[in-house]
Amino acid sequence: MKTVRLGIAGLGTVAQGVLDILASNQQLIATRSGIDLQVTRVASRTPKPDVNLAGAQFSTQLADLYADEQIDMVVELIGGEDVAYEFIQAALAAGKPVITANKAVIAAHGNTLLSHNAAPLRFEAAVAGAIPIIQAIQHGLVANRFEHVVGIINGTCNYILTAMQEQGAAFADALATAQELGYAEADPTFDIQGIDAAHKLAILLGLAFDSPFNFADIYIEGITEVTSADIQYADELGYHIKHLGLARLTDTGLEARVHPTLIPKSQLLASVNDVLNAVLVKSDAAGNTMYSGPGAGGAATASAVLSDVIGLACQLPQQDTPRSVDASAVRVLPIEDIRSAYYLRIPTKDEPGVFAQVANALSSHGISIEAAIQKEPRAGQDLVSIVILTQVVQEAEMAAAMTQVQSLPQVQGSIARIRVETLD
Ligand SMILES: NC(=O)c1ccc[n+]([C@@H]2O[C@H](COP(=O)([O-])OP(=O)(O)OC[C@H]3O[C@@H](n4cnc5c(N)ncnc54)[C@H](OP(=O)(O)O)[C@@H]3O)[C@@H](O)[C@H]2O)c1
Repeated sequence: MKTVRLGIAGLGTVAQGVLDILASNQQLIATRSGIDLQVTRVASRTPKPDVNLAGAQFSTQLADLYADEQIDMVVELIGGEDVAYEFIQAALAAGKPVITANKAVIAAHGNTLLSHNAAPLRFEAAVAGAIPIIQAIQHGLVANRFEHVVGIINGTCNYILTAMQEQGAAFADALATAQELGYAEADPTFDIQGIDAAHKLAILLGLAFDSPFNFADIYIEGITEVTSADIQYADELGYHIKHLGLARLTDTGLEARVHPTLIPKSQLLASVNDVLNAVLVKSDAAGNTMYSGPGAGGAATASAVLSDVIGLACQLPQQDTPRSVDASAVRVLPIEDIRSAYYLRIPTKDEPGVFAQVANALSSHGISIEAAIQKEPRAGQDLVSIVILTQVVQEAEMAAAMTQVQSLPQVQGSIARIRVETLD
């Protein structure tokens, strides 16, 4: 039996989840892994006398963790970007292996941190909570070339879109309920604007396509523009709207985008609801594999943190080699170059011939219509909605066509445009 002493930074939801799991499963972990895990120090901003630290020393100085020679590895669970980055860097420099759940830090600084020779860094919990997606990509599927990695990787967005789909809730009401239930932060910006999902996609993309983590390359749309009408029309056409992170290798480069997406109801991802996350991976040898489960929550996230801890503990004192990336191999495409089908909802005056004009405008940009429905005005409104599903087209052509359609005198108000993916 090898004893491994942990220092934990932070004493919030996930850190308490780690302490709780160890309180109940420490013996089980020891039996399975031969590792006796002991939390010997916790450092966080605010003391929490109600939390049972099981004998660990508490300090408000994060540096106490990596300065302690008795500590074998450090777990970073404070969140945020700058302080966490400095802390991880200092801990690695002090030779302490680090485990983190912090996607913002890995997406922004992972290249630097993972080039460290001094000690290994693990971050399974940073993407999709409990789901072992990083292990799947780095180990389970290591013999594969990846075609795409597509995921529902933000539970808050998925909860809101599910409530809009199943209860007909308006966006604002669904968000308010998510906040009441603790699924959304008081300031939900990072989630509903797609930033959190983009952090996670940057990590998945870097790992699957052996490229550097580059958050700035990700095209990002949130879910704030999705309306109940769009959800209902998509449903009539046979689709659900999900907020997806999508990384796909094409002949010309990598598509890397986060946005609301119509996916066929028959697709497994379409039935991943509420706060659940799921990631669909298509690779050359294994084909399609899908992973789903809780993307957040103290215990679920702590489960992934401890998986990294035990994985590293089994290797100690062996050192990792730094991650090598092939920066020249693949290029992330600008959004104008991606290809996608589209759902369009075009608000127009109720006049004869409008549909033909819209169809002509699309056709003049080489855009074919896959399906269309024309909706009567909604109660209290005098505009009709023309709802169109297009065939696959280049984004730049669609943007040009939309400028033309928007300028038609009968078109009133903004056109809703949501990408469609069949994920074949
Ligand atoms: N919660 C989830 O479901 C979940 C899921 C996946 C990943 N994660 C990631 O896990 C990490 C931790 O999340 P969490 O939900 O546990 O956060 P949390 O509940 O807000 O806890 C953060 C803890 O860190 C402490 N802290 C914050 N800034 C600090 C600083 N500068 N110096 C010292 N202590 C500091 C906080 O102290 P105070 O008590 O004073 O605030 C708090 O105890 C984040 O990176 C998050 O993105 C969380």
